[in-house]
Amino acid sequence: MATQIDSRLRFEQIKPKIGARVLNSKQELLSGELSEDILALLEKSGVLVFPRIDFTDEEQVAFTNALGGNAREISGNEVFKVSLDESINAKVAEYLKGSLYWHIDGTMNPVPIRASMLTAKVLAPEGGDTDFANTATSYVDLPQETKDRIADLRVVHSLWRSQFYHTPEPTMEQIEDWQSKGEAELPLVCTHRSGRKSMVLGNTAHYVIGKDPKESYRILHGLREFATSEPYSYRHKWTVGDTVIWDNRTSLHRATPYDPYSGRMMHRTILDGTEAWEEQ
Ligand code: OGA
Ligand code: MN
Repeated sequence: MATQIDSRLRFEQIKPKIGARVLNSKQELLSGELSEDILALLEKSGVLVFPRIDFTDEEQVAFTNALGGNAREISGNEVFKVSLDESINAKVAEYLKGSLYWHIDGTMNPVPIRASMLTAKVLAPEGGDTDFANTATSYVDLPQETKDRIADLRVVHSLWRSQFYHTPEPTMEQIEDWQSKGEAELPLVCTHRSGRKSMVLGNTAHYVIGKDPKESYRILHGLREFATSEPYSYRHKWTVGDTVIWDNRTSLHRATPYDPYSGRMMHRTILDGTEAWEEQ
């Protein structure tokens, strides 16, 4: 008998302002029939959890492609192994330490990654949850006076700034290496083609152009504190086989601390961006 495909999306909301759990079977997800509805729910909820879906790498790639394409991962392969262990990620383990602080993936790219997807392969015995925060629903709830004050602000993002979170006393060689990765000037408030707005924040947000350092820090960290507060944030406690996808343009995320040598292993794929941070 042919496998029955239920072409309706079945899900439950996690919190009113962030997150949904999708309950369809693996076959239903891979059929591609739900892709439009999944992308619409992703835009609305920011984060989607597929509990114990147990994707193989091939299935994760197929699911990523069914949702609109798989960007080449930094490793050059389609599936990137997220681990802080240098024996697994010789070149990028250091940069990945920045993932322990609220961030957006790839703010240096003119066209941001649309969404990132992680599947849990091996858990850390302690810690290693992933936190998510919705920068679109939190933006909506800002007082009008704040919205007016930040409407036209522009922020310099840099990879090198984010590295100071975990390596506060780097060598000159490290600083030169980090700085060689470039900087990007981005709007603080991004207006998407859909008309929705979200805030571009996180550990790469270095300073607000034209503000003195004290004011600049108050703006960027005050907004980060608000955007990551209870109503807009969700902590995912992993079970092996869970897959989570987040809208990278309207979310901040971070891993909670864990032992880099615990064996924790997540497999990541990314969806190509479809719109620049700002239209020219
Ligand atoms: C990432 C990331 C968080 C985690 O893969 O981009 O930030 O929990 N991961 O490993
Ligand atoms: Mn990340």
